[in-house]
Amino acid sequence: MLKPLPRPARPHFSSGPCAKPPGWNPDQIDRRVLGRSHRSGLGKERLRLCIELMRQNLRLPATHRIGIVPASDTGAFEMAMWSMLGARPVTALAWESFGEGWVTDAARQLKLEPTVLRADYGQLPDLRQVDWSTDVLFTWNGTTSGVRVPDGDWIAADREGLSFADATSAVFAYDLPWDKIDVATFSWQKVLGGEGGHGVLILGPRAVERLESFTPDRPLPKIFRLTKGGKLIEGIFSGETINTPSMLAVEDAIWTLEWSQRMGGLEGLMARTAANAAALDAIVEARDWLDHLAQVPETRSKTSVCLTVAGADPKAMAKLLEEKDVAYDIASYRDAPPGLRIWCGATVETADIEALGPWLDWAWEQCR
Ligand SMILES: Cc1ncc(COP(=O)(O)O)c(C=O)c1O
Repeated sequence: MLKPLPRPARPHFSSGPCAKPPGWNPDQIDRRVLGRSHRSGLGKERLRLCIELMRQNLRLPATHRIGIVPASDTGAFEMAMWSMLGARPVTALAWESFGEGWVTDAARQLKLEPTVLRADYGQLPDLRQVDWSTDVLFTWNGTTSGVRVPDGDWIAADREGLSFADATSAVFAYDLPWDKIDVATFSWQKVLGGEGGHGVLILGPRAVERLESFTPDRPLPKIFRLTKGGKLIEGIFSGETINTPSMLAVEDAIWTLEWSQRMGGLEGLMARTAANAAALDAIVEARDWLDHLAQVPETRSKTSVCLTVAGADPKAMAKLLEEKDVAYDIASYRDAPPGLRIWCGATVETADIEALGPWLDWAWEQCR
């Protein structure tokens, strides 16, 4: 009889919603505000605390506003696109499914005729081609291909257009250059292991200037409206949400942000993510049938790591590993090339990534 392999203590490797922080337990969530108005003194205080904790954990400079908005990362990004685009030409970058979604919306819904810079799964478009007199839409970390932009050096400091970064699987994992980012969006469900449902919208000063100087020629539903009488609705960035948020999701985010602080804040979360990605990379390096989908090491995601598998069906492997409670949700995204996608964000424990290696061998043997 073969000795049974030790399983990862937590088989949660999904790329969203991602693993809860280690030690998370719903009983620890502060429940005083549940069943109360989000506009009560306590409600506003908790929303403000959540915003302040995000600011601290992201090391967001005072130049940038941060607010909680409806409809997860998609809601936050759409809100930014619909309320700010149209003032100047648009460039949209796509190298995987989510970036492609923003291209579709810019072209087909907003009818902006964007210049599109595309690359296949596993690659980045040539970032030097970007014309910074235009507004630029891009995904910092392509969750479905495991390809990220290496840094912010390619973003012009003297840009005339605005940079719009969908940063949902990048925040809390990389040190983002906020001076190069005019708009950023994310959801708590990724690196923080929080809940979906709400988005977070970050606006730099030039984005605010755009909002206050440009009125798009299109109807804007109430949940997209960021200005009133030509002025930014400042309340959104101090906890006066546009509509009713889930205070349970907010309290959960507060818990995860306080956990993040105990881990050392951004530095701590980046170190945990980097250690996880390195542990997975060591597994990949040791196997000739396993490889990264991202071709260039500097552009490899450290959060949503996408792998190719030779000689076996990765979907069948993922199913088998799920059945054995070894790894949940590790098949590649439905529109991406077949493969495995293993989340390495900060809420995953490195020992659990390490424990996956022999199980990947086992599943590969079973599925050959
Ligand atoms: C890069 C990227 N953009 C957008 C989304 C959509 O996020 P949400 O479902 O939180 O709106 C995801 C979710 O996986 C993502 O990875």
